[in-house]
Amino acid sequence: MRITKSWPVAAIAITALAFSACSTGGTTSTSSSSGGTDTTSVYSPKAGGAGGDVGVFTWWAAGSEKAGLDALQGVFTKQYSNDKFVNLAVAGGAGSNAKAKLASDLQNNQPPDSFQGHAGAELTDYIAQGQIVPVNDVVNALGGSKVFPQTLLDRLTVKGNIYSVPSNIHRANVVWANPKVLQTAGVTAVPKDIKSWIADMDKVKASGVNTPLTIGGTWTQVQLFETILIADLGVDDYNGLFDGKTKWDSDKVKTAVNDYKTILTYANTASDGDDWPAATDAVIDGKAAYNVMGDWAVAEFNEKKAVDGTGYTYFPVPGTDGVFDFLADSFTLPKGAKNADGAKDWLMTIGSADGQKAFNLAKGSIPARTDVPADAFPKYQQSAMNSFKKDKIASSIAHGAAVSLAWNTDISTAISKFYAGRNADTLVSDLAAAAAKHQK
Ligand code: BGC
Repeated sequence: MRITKSWPVAAIAITALAFSACSTGGTTSTSSSSGGTDTTSVYSPKAGGAGGDVGVFTWWAAGSEKAGLDALQGVFTKQYSNDKFVNLAVAGGAGSNAKAKLASDLQNNQPPDSFQGHAGAELTDYIAQGQIVPVNDVVNALGGSKVFPQTLLDRLTVKGNIYSVPSNIHRANVVWANPKVLQTAGVTAVPKDIKSWIADMDKVKASGVNTPLTIGGTWTQVQLFETILIADLGVDDYNGLFDGKTKWDSDKVKTAVNDYKTILTYANTASDGDDWPAATDAVIDGKAAYNVMGDWAVAEFNEKKAVDGTGYTYFPVPGTDGVFDFLADSFTLPKGAKNADGAKDWLMTIGSADGQKAFNLAKGSIPARTDVPADAFPKYQQSAMNSFKKDKIASSIAHGAAVSLAWNTDISTAISKFYAGRNADTLVSDLAAAAAKHQK
C-alpha cells in the first residue's frame, strides 16, 4: 500500500557556483579574524586551512545524526587538511542536554570554535548576548544570496549582519507511518484533517495496536503540539502567535489543545528524557502506526534499511498539507573562539556545495543551498525540496525558529506539566502567560 500523497520531483533553480575558495590565503577588505562585520568583505581561506584544532559543538552524537556529522567531517578534512576536527558533541535530541552545557561554556568564556544553532529566534538570543559574531565574509565567499534562499538569509540576519552558516533545512510537520500496520487496520487513505486522523487511530487501535502513535520526551511533545496548532489554526494564525496577532488563549488554540489531549490518549507512555530514535524505531518495527518527527527520521529509516513505500511512508501532519514547518541547523562563530580562522574554514565546508550534498544525503534534510542538484537525493528529500519551494512556511517552536530559548523553555515546561496532569485550561493559561512574558 502506498498512501503517500505524490509530491512531484523538485525542480530547484540550479545556480552556477559564484565563488570558490581562494587557495592563496588572505582576505579582501577585512581581516579574516575580524568576525566579518564589514558586510562586503569576502573570506579567503589559506590553502589547506588555517591549521590547529577546530572544536565543533553539536548534539549529533550518535546514530544517523553522527553519520551526518561524520560526512561533514570527511569533506572538511579533504578541503582543509591542515585543520584538525575536534568533536565536542553532547548527546540528546534537539539539544535537550547540549544547550545547557553550551550556555555554561559561553557564560564562562570557554566557547567552542563553532556551535550548532537554529536559524531564527533562537539565534537572536546569542546575538543579543554578544556571544556570536557576524560571518558576512564567509557567507559572501560562499556566494551569499546567489546560493542561499533569501527567506533563509533573512532568518540569519540581524541589523544587516549574517551570524551563521546554514547546513540544511529540516521539515517538522511530517507523519512517518508503517504501511503494513495501516493496511492491517484498513486505513487506505491519507487523512485530511485532525478529526479523520483520530478516526484512523481508532481503527489502528481496534486492529490490536495499543499505541497507534509514538512520542518521546518533552521536546517531541512540543513538536507534536506545534503541528496540531498549525493544523487547527491554519498557517497564518499560527505564525500570528509569535508576533501577537493571534492570542494564545483564542478559541482555535483551545481546540488545538483539546485535539492534542485526545491524540495523546493514543500514544505510548513517555518520560521527559526519552529520545526520538526509539519513537521512530517503533514505527519501523511495526509496534506503532505513526510518529510525528522532523525529517531527520528519514536518516534513521535509511540506517535501519527500511524501504520507502514498503517499510515506511510519510505525509504532512493532517491539516497541514501545503505548509512547511521549517527549521534549519546553522553554525556560528562564537566571540572569543580560540581558532577563529579554523572555525571559518569549517563554516566554508558547511556552506560548500560538496559539504551540503554529503551532509544532507546522510541527514534526511535538504540543502540550504539552491545549487545542489536535486536528482542526487532520494525521493523523500526531493519531495521536501519541492514543498519548501512552494509551500507556506511556518516556523518551528521546538527547534528554535519561532521563539527564543527562554520562551521555548516556558512552553516546554507547560507541555511537560500538561503531560502529567492533562488539564487543558491550565495549558492554555500557561501558554498565554509565557507569551505575555516573552513576546516582544
Ligand atoms: C535539529 C536536528 C536534529 C534534531 C533531533 C533538531 O533540533 O535541528 O538536526 O536531528 O533536533 O536531534
